[in-house]
Amino acid sequence: MFFYLYLSSSAKEVLKTHDLETCTRPKMVTTGLFSYNFKDIGFTQYGEEWGEMKKLIGLELFSPKTQKSFRYIREEESDLLVKKISKSAQTQTLVDLGKPLFSFTAGIIFRLAFGQNFRKCDFIDRERVEELVVESETNVGTLAFSDFFPTGLGWLIDRLSGQSSRMNKVFSKLTNLFEHVIDDHLKTEQHQDHSNLISAMLNMINKPTNIGSFKITSDHLKGVMSDVFLAGVNAGVITMIWTMTELTRHPRVMKKLQKKDSSNTRLHPPAPLLLPRLTMSDVTIQGYNIPKNTMIEINTYTIGRDPKCWTNPEEFIPERFSNTSINYKGQHFELLPFGAGRRSCPGMSLGITILELGLLNLLYFFDWRLPNGMTIADIDMEEVGALNIAKKVPLELVPTLHHS
Ligand code: HEM
Repeated sequence: MFFYLYLSSSAKEVLKTHDLETCTRPKMVTTGLFSYNFKDIGFTQYGEEWGEMKKLIGLELFSPKTQKSFRYIREEESDLLVKKISKSAQTQTLVDLGKPLFSFTAGIIFRLAFGQNFRKCDFIDRERVEELVVESETNVGTLAFSDFFPTGLGWLIDRLSGQSSRMNKVFSKLTNLFEHVIDDHLKTEQHQDHSNLISAMLNMINKPTNIGSFKITSDHLKGVMSDVFLAGVNAGVITMIWTMTELTRHPRVMKKLQKKDSSNTRLHPPAPLLLPRLTMSDVTIQGYNIPKNTMIEINTYTIGRDPKCWTNPEEFIPERFSNTSINYKGQHFELLPFGAGRRSCPGMSLGITILELGLLNLLYFFDWRLPNGMTIADIDMEEVGALNIAKKVPLELVPTLHHS
């Protein structure tokens, strides 16, 4: 059974009042596959394993100490981003913003979490990584027939329709990439010094230690890699592209706004449906009795455009956030780009740091204009995606260097 929520008040009831009763995840075919049989954080069911794994990445990836020690990675990647765009600025050529922003974000996340500079890897290049992120997310966001007909019929339709083989093909490419990264760690014995998430988890696998009542296995490692790879990279890139799109459509704001803004995660939350929740007991939401085992979807896209919460909801007006306490951190249920409650995004502050840094580099060093012959009215706003909603047509702009 499904229950869709479109209102900020009902989101608050689920994510705050009934957070504990609704915070597990449904078991679906694709999420089971891409989480290595629910050994990750995002798609695993609520319980001890989820809590311990979340603690682990908090310690290895999101702690202020780790963030500080990786400052040089962010600086190097920023430098590369600016250099790359400067070349196009010199020759006044078009930049498809998705490309440098993907390299920038994936570059930081790969080095931070995987200890791997994918520009220097011989087994993967940027184009293939990008393709794999998009393909994997499309598959994870797709429901299989077996989710609705768990008996033989669903299985048969998934095979006949080709969905099963598509999904398994992408999954084996993803596993292949992760195994290469892991092998590389083992070869160079980097795992001895706990310098990143992978080395820390490899140490736990090699010197079996119980975490709570379970042991960390290589499926836990790949499950977490899958979360970081899929949740960590694309949401940030998508948000930066939507922000640059809105700024290009509003040159007044582009000129004025060289400071942070919450506005764009309101209009274009990268994950408009959050991740699905599943009720663990009967609950009453907005007066409706919702039985145990009901899947709940929360639509932050409609909530962010609800005229009951926002004046001129369709308008991009970053100034609306100047005189309000509303922020994106999960206490204000009209703005939920990172979700709220127990299952909210643990990568929020890292995500925001990368996002702000990327946008700052683009806006501080460059002016941006549309290609000759194109006007603001020609900017295509069509959306595409299943789990994350991206801009369908690439955003191509011409940069001019104005600071060096
Ligand atoms: C701008 C960047 C990002 C955005 C907009 C974003 C957004 C989200 C959203 C909407 C959710 C679902 C929350 C819910 O269902 O209530 C989520 C979950 C999650 N995110 Fe992020 N995220 C970002 C960056 C990151 C990064 C950098 C990482 C890790 C490196 C990360 C790891 C996760 C994980 C592991 C979960 C699952 C949490 C759970 O189920 O317990 N995210 N994120």
